[in-house]
Amino acid sequence: MLGSYNENRTSGWKKSTIAIIGVVAMACIIGTVAIVRSNDNKFMSILNAEEHEFHEFMAIYNKVYATEEEFTHRFRIFRDNLAYIRVFNSMGDTMVLGVNEFADMDFIEFRSKYLTHRFPERQSENGETFEGLTAPTSVDWRTKGAVTPVKNQGQCGSCWAFSTTGSVEGAWFLAGHTLVSLSEQQLVDCSRAQGNMGCNGGLMDDGFKYIIANKGITTEANYPYTAKDGICNKTKAAQVAATISTYTDVTANNPTALQNAVAQQPVSIAVEADQNAWQLYKSGVVTKNCGTNLDHGVLIVGYDTTASPPYWIVKNSWGASWGMEGYIEIEISSGPGVCGINKQPSYPVV
Ligand SMILES: *[C@@H]1O[C@H](CO)[C@@H](O)[C@H](O)[C@H]1NC(C)=O
Repeated sequence: MLGSYNENRTSGWKKSTIAIIGVVAMACIIGTVAIVRSNDNKFMSILNAEEHEFHEFMAIYNKVYATEEEFTHRFRIFRDNLAYIRVFNSMGDTMVLGVNEFADMDFIEFRSKYLTHRFPERQSENGETFEGLTAPTSVDWRTKGAVTPVKNQGQCGSCWAFSTTGSVEGAWFLAGHTLVSLSEQQLVDCSRAQGNMGCNGGLMDDGFKYIIANKGITTEANYPYTAKDGICNKTKAAQVAATISTYTDVTANNPTALQNAVAQQPVSIAVEADQNAWQLYKSGVVTKNCGTNLDHGVLIVGYDTTASPPYWIVKNSWGASWGMEGYIEIEISSGPGVCGINKQPSYPVV
């Protein structure tokens, strides 16, 4: 293993030396000949450091670029993202950005590969009445064994399925059962009748509707995730491991109602995640840099109102190497909330 790793690395270095010459040549063409010449050594050492970082990135995330052009293209985007990360982090925000799996993509590509195109505004059907704050100052369902390990949706707009399984896993556990990882692929393949569109998007409430209609959902192990649209396997779909009886839409744009709900169990939410707050997120609390046009389904597993700023603890489905071991913290605020987090919360009832 170690041998093959070193081999790959050596050939990668050779390859990138050629790419570096290409990048320098490009810098000259766009009119910086004099500057590049007079600062030759400094320029090359910055480029070498960035190249080194790019190779580390390629090794960590198993990135393979088929052609020299692709390598150069990715390296250029990576350098733009590095520059953005450095400038952002130098401003001392509560959020810290960093290099992750998505650092060789620009926003447009990131959005098209990882986010959902369909996230319509909710027509609230199952709204609860709001009764004032009853919740404790902080909650973390991970410490109570109600949350499965962070999963990875891959290049499929199935976030909504991961948000659905996450809240059902929590509800099922808190109803007195063993924590069991549930099948997103079943939701992707089998819930079209409820309005979901597999890798092209869906809604958590429509996921709950399917689970109710199907009288349950099977396990991740029985119906594993493929990150592709597939034909519903009705045999597997009938081998249910957890059930729910109904679901509740939490009052929209009301962080107190949301806090009460999260104190009860993990809650499915929708956010806008197509800006750099999410793509390059590393740690800390997001207080801005995202809008409220919902395009991503995730799961609130807790909050801390004693922190400054107070935040929601959110489980994402982009693997454990993204963010804080797969999690992101989002500031608790009024109205639609940061990233629109207060707009569409809902949870299943066992
Ligand atoms: C559906 O699942 C059953 C049970 O696991 C399996 O035997 C069968 O081959 C699957 N059908 C298809 C079409 O994959």
